[in-house]
Order: sequence, then structure tokens, then C-alpha cells
Amino acid sequence: MEEGMITRISGAVVEAVNVKDPKMNDIIRVGNDKLIGEIVRLHDDKSIIQVYEDTTNLRVGEGAENTHAPLSVKLAPGLLGSIFDGVQRPLEKIMEESGDFIRRGVDVEPLDTAKKWKFVSTVKAGDKVKGGDIIGEVDETPLVKHRILVPIGVEGDIESIEEGEFTINETIAVVKGGRGKTEIRMLQEWPVRKSRPVVEKFPPNIPLITGQRILDTLFPVAKGGTAAIPGPFGSGKTVTQNALAKWSDADIIVYVGCGERGNEMTEMLSSLPKLKDPKSGKPLMNRTILIANTSNMPVAAREASIYTGATLAEYYRDMGYNVALMADSTSRWAEALRELSGRLEEMPGEEGYPAYLSAKIAEFYERAGRVKTLNGGTGSLTLIGAVSPPGGDISEPVSQATLRVTRVFWALDAALANARHFPSINWLNSYSLYESDLDSWYKANVSKDWTEVKKELTDILAREAEVNEVVQLVGYDALAESDKLTLDIAKVMREDFLQQNAFDDIDAFTSINKQYHIINSIRLLLEAEKKAVDSGVPVSKLQGTRAKELVAKMKFVTEDKLDAYLKDFTAALKNIGGKPKEE
Ligand SMILES: Nc1ncnc2c1ncn2[C@@H]1O[C@H](COP(=O)(O)OP(=O)(O)OP(=O)(O)O)[C@@H](O)[C@H]1O
Ligand SMILES: [Mg+2]
Repeated sequence: MEEGMITRISGAVVEAVNVKDPKMNDIIRVGNDKLIGEIVRLHDDKSIIQVYEDTTNLRVGEGAENTHAPLSVKLAPGLLGSIFDGVQRPLEKIMEESGDFIRRGVDVEPLDTAKKWKFVSTVKAGDKVKGGDIIGEVDETPLVKHRILVPIGVEGDIESIEEGEFTINETIAVVKGGRGKTEIRMLQEWPVRKSRPVVEKFPPNIPLITGQRILDTLFPVAKGGTAAIPGPFGSGKTVTQNALAKWSDADIIVYVGCGERGNEMTEMLSSLPKLKDPKSGKPLMNRTILIANTSNMPVAAREASIYTGATLAEYYRDMGYNVALMADSTSRWAEALRELSGRLEEMPGEEGYPAYLSAKIAEFYERAGRVKTLNGGTGSLTLIGAVSPPGGDISEPVSQATLRVTRVFWALDAALANARHFPSINWLNSYSLYESDLDSWYKANVSKDWTEVKKELTDILAREAEVNEVVQLVGYDALAESDKLTLDIAKVMREDFLQQNAFDDIDAFTSINKQYHIINSIRLLLEAEKKAVDSGVPVSKLQGTRAKELVAKMKFVTEDKLDAYLKDFTAALKNIGGKPKEE
């Protein structure tokens, strides 16, 4: 029998015999079209191969050739601005080469191999280097310098290094070590299922500032942290992820889109590349990599996509950047896993998902962290996954497995979305386990009384829910004035602070400093109203005041006018409650 022959085909899963020296995770070129596949199971003489491309027309009896290499991504200048599928095939290029649809087995390079990059070295001959060290850099985009790292595993003295214009395949340096000479190019590879090594993980004590008030102030995520955005259909998962991609203070964004509907991905592919980076005014794609899976692409590529994304993200982290990866939605990824598991005839676990679903999800989120890199620098990878539980019920396996490992939970709520309260993040169910880690950062960088101000207003929001229950029983009029005051300020908090319009030029982003001034103003308003109530003014008389109006419009005030505006507000506070009551 000839070497490597297909004996069985079941959708994306193919069985072959006589594969040469088969090992788990070896990449196999399957069939006459040489489709990309990966060994996912071995028994006796059989290799079970998961194929990353459409297997229509593949026949039993065709070959299966072992490449003896794991599924890897190519790492080099040119990644930023690219749009890839789940196994790093460039979407635009594939479409150019094979027409409108994605032809199978097309061998296209993920990166431009003809383009010359201007390489500037930062080490010289004789210097000692080891894996992960920076030996030079190129201007990859107007926003990002791409640092060229010594491939992991290489160690020794720089024998020679050149500067000038090079393609990613040309040798730029030679390292001489114990194991001989290694030619270094700008291009290197890394297997996607293995996280890139770091020296250590730091505590998560610096926030990822997103400019989204409810996130930064109430439920912050740390740089290098993990967050989940579960939410029912149409509740705002994608808008939130896009806002994070656009506004968060990450240097690099990796956006993994797994759409249920083709048109949703088309929408993302046409909208994200049009976004402008707010700091520089340049296209956001200058610091973004997109990985797109539409529902008509093979499921196995979707399964691989989050690992491809994580590996590209770790590579930029290793250059010393703060990277944020958004996966939208991880439920679609889990469904791919379920389908493949079914094809492999594995014992199904809860709701048909494989028993290892939780382990896989945990493994993915473990790749997050703010770290000391191998070259002694600091970088971070923040992982933010949307989850779309069917019917919005988070008791299902994917939501549960995600919530067990992520430390921030932004609970999108259909009722809030229906009431047009955006972002429709439920402030009572959501949480951040980074709050105490981040406290000292907020105190040092925003305001000493940050924790108290925030607590006073979050208490009001929690209290509002309780008072509302009482209202159900006895009606609003029977409430004590102090409870009416709680409802009054909670409403201000909800409408003037928590609600934020992602489509308004000014409101879309609020600096952390301005966030503080808005909640602090609400607290000052609360104190002034409390004083008035204590001196006998009913809450009904505290409506429509100028101070309240100023609070309501504060989110639309630009940063440069904020100081003057706050002075105006402080003056207006003095008039609350009118003149002290006559004796
Ligand atoms: N922060 C926001 N500001 C204004 N409008 C918003 C905001 N968030 C969501 N919306 C509105 O809600 C709509 C649905 O949001 P989005 O597409 O993000 O939902 P989704 O949860 O991703 O839905 P799906 O389950 O279909 O993927 C948006 O088109 C927009 O009109
Ligand atoms: Mg969506």
C-alpha cells in the first residue's frame, strides 16, 4: 500500500492509514488538493485528521502526506492590518487567487514575501543574545514599531548583523552558539496550540482603560486580565467589543470574529477597517489584526482561530506591547469544537459538548497576563470573550465554563437593551474581581477618594433595587423622603453616568479623569440634596434644578471645557433646596 492513504471521510474528519511516522498534532496535506489537516488522534495504524478546509470532492484512496510540523503561524512584519482566516490564510489574497470563494488547498503565503522592510539593528556583532531578545526593529505601520526577536531556542553571540532593506525571508543576522550558526530572518514561526514562554506573570494591578464608563469605573478589567461578555441576541456584545477595539488603551488589537451569520462578519469586515484610531486619526487597522470565520468556512478553521489569534497576540506582547484580544463570539468557537467532537465519535458531555470543553476554555484564558518577557521587558495580553448563550440563559455549558475562569463578567441584559439603556450591562449582576488589585492605581492616578466616591454611588444603585421592591408593595408616595432621594440619585447615576452612546462623537469615549469628575459631581449633588431633604425640602422640589441639568450634560462636555464647567456646577449646587426654611 502506498504511503499515507485516506480510508474514511466524515465531514471535516478524515481517517488515513500508513501515514509516515505520525505524531499527534502533525500537519498532514490531505488528498490530491493537499488540504491542510492536523492529526488529532492516533490508534493502531490509523491517523485521525481534522481538516481545516472544505472536504467536498475528497475521495477515499487519495494520499495523506505528513509535513512533520505542528499547526503554526508565521510571525513577521506585515501582520498588522491583515485579515486572516482561522489558520492564517490571508482572506483578501485567497479571494484574489481563487475568485470570490475560497478554493481549497491554495497555497498562499500569509505575509507579503516580496515587500522590503527597512531594518534598523539595536545590537552589534559580538553581543550575546538569547531567545526573545530584541535585535532590531522596522516601522511596520505609522503607529507600530515591529521589534525583531531572536527566535526562542536560539542562543549565542551575534556574528554579523546588517541594516537596510530586507524581505522577511532574507538573513539579517547570524548567531553563533554552542549548536553552531543560526541565520536569523525577520520571519519566524510558532505552533499555535502552545503558549509562548515568559519569565513571570505580574499581578494584575494596572487597568485597561476603555473609555467606557460602566466598565472603567464599576467593573474594570486589568491589563493582562480576562473578561467575559455574555449576552442574548442583539444585546450589544459586538458594539461593546468594537468600542473596546477602538477606544481601549491597548497598543495592539487582535479581533477574532466567529459569526453565526455571514452578513454579521461582512459587516465587521467592512466596518472595522474604516474605524480611525482616536489618538492618531490614522486607520485603526494600523494596529489591528483581524481573524475572520464565517459560517461557510470549515469548522476546523474556526476551532483553530482563537489559538491563531492568541499566538499572534503573544508575539506582540513579547515585543513589549499591551495587546488586547477580542473573541466574538466564543460560543461559535465552542460549537465548532462540538461538531468536530461529534465527528470523532467522542462521548458527548453536557448538551453534546465534549467533556474537555471546560479545560479548553480554561487553557485559552490562561494565555492572558501582564508579564515579564524573555528579554526583560513588560507586555500584556488581555483576553475578552463574548458569549452568546442560546436564549440568553447563562446556565449553559459554554457560559458556565467561561465564568469559572474569567475574572470580569459584563452581563448584557435584554431588558435593558429593549429599554434602550446602552451599554445594556446590568450593574447588579456584573462584577470585576480586579477591583481590589486596581484600587491603588486608581487612587494614585485618578483621585485619592476614588474608592469612597465609587462605593457611595454603587451603594445607591444597589439600594435602588431594594427600594423599588418596597415601591411594589406600598407605592412611591408612601416612601420615606430618604428613600425617594435614593431613587432620585440612582436615576441620575443610570442616565447620566452609566448610559453611554457608542455612536456619539464625544460620548463614545470618556477619559478616566472625566469619569471621576462625573461621579464625584453626582456625589456632590447627592450631598446637597441630602442636606436639603434633612432641612425639610421634599425630593419633589429638587427636580429640574440647574445643578442636575449640568450633571446630565456633563458627559457631552469636551475635556478642555471641563474645568470651567465644574466651576459652574459647584456654583449651581449652592442653590439646591432654595433658601433655608423659615422658622
Ligand atoms: N453602547 C451602545 N450605544 C448605542 N447603541 C447600542 C450600544 N450597544 C448596542 N447598541 C444597539 O444595539 C444593537 C445590537 O447590538 P450588537 O450587534 O452589538 O448585539 P450583539 O449582542 O452582538 O447581537 P448578536 O447576538 O446578534 O451578535 C446595535 O446595532 C445598536 O443599535
Ligand atoms: Mg454580535
